[in-house]
Amino acid sequence: MARDSLTLRRPDDWHLHLRDGAMMKAVLPFTARVFGRAIVMPNLVPPVTGVSAAEAYRKRILKALPKGAKFTPLMTAYLTDATAPDEIERGFKAGVFTAAKLYPANATTNSARGVTDIVRIDKVLERMACIGMPLLVHGEVTDPAVDVFDREAVFIERILAPLTRRLPKLKIVFEHATTRDAIDFVRAQGPNVAATITPHHLVISRNALFQGGLRPHMYCLPVAKREAHRLALRRAATSGETKFFLGTDSAPHPIADKEKDCGCAGIFCAPSALETYARVFDEENALDKLEAFASLNGPRFYGLPPNEARVTLRRETWKVPAKIKAGSAAVKPFLAGEEMGWKLTA
Ligand code: DOR
Ligand code: ZN
Repeated sequence: MARDSLTLRRPDDWHLHLRDGAMMKAVLPFTARVFGRAIVMPNLVPPVTGVSAAEAYRKRILKALPKGAKFTPLMTAYLTDATAPDEIERGFKAGVFTAAKLYPANATTNSARGVTDIVRIDKVLERMACIGMPLLVHGEVTDPAVDVFDREAVFIERILAPLTRRLPKLKIVFEHATTRDAIDFVRAQGPNVAATITPHHLVISRNALFQGGLRPHMYCLPVAKREAHRLALRRAATSGETKFFLGTDSAPHPIADKEKDCGCAGIFCAPSALETYARVFDEENALDKLEAFASLNGPRFYGLPPNEARVTLRRETWKVPAKIKAGSAAVKPFLAGEEMGWKLTA
């Protein structure tokens, strides 16, 4: 008989964009309501590159939390060509930086100050391997000669595989995996290499970008791939394997910045993230694996204890809001206006 409720340890979001100011204030409650902790991406303008910037950002996040919310932001350092190994180590040892993020320069939103060539951060990566600090990668090459749908696979071949050979102990999270290639690669590595998987990449293939017309709210980077890749992601996420865990990549942009010529990449999935994962695990007859993916595998990889609190999902219908106000702007959530079959109880 199909179950109609599910209790799990409180989950964490291992990949999240909170932005700043009015946008942060508007989107943060959707995450803090569900998740105990989140790895907060550092791609602000200007990016969070140093320890004091990360401490200040963490303070702003804590201040923007709704009253009574229990939520811990885990901060990350944005790597640039100029990042100093000592600054990264100092932030990690002080408990300010949980990890460091590699954005290949110009690969995605706010990545202009990212790394232009991986050799430029050799010393930083060596230091991170030495101190056990995780490297979070946006795994796409920026070579304009490479087809946009192949950029993840080519990144693995050109950048990631050589890196894991050179620094076999480095802890690496392949963020927002979108291809079977990424899943296969991560599986073939030791326990120090893992991947996050977003709710939207489990639900949409690249067809969704063109369904009846151009769909800017389905556009994110790495862009959704063919159906065969989506199915590989679903198998990995629902497998219970410790290498795969929850990372929403919820990335809000004002509607006006999405619905324009040269619209921004990013899908704001936070309002229905956990419920979307529950729907996928339910469809795959794997609800018994949701807790591993959402609440256990991530902390285990990061060397943190799982949350003690529990959350309960019930089989109950509700509608994802059509839009959310953020200051003078508005944001459209993933699956806006759609009915969900699982609901988190208050
Ligand atoms: O679609 C994306 N949006 N991918 C990223 O890597 C960054 C993110 C953002 O910050 O909007
Ligand atoms: Zn992201």
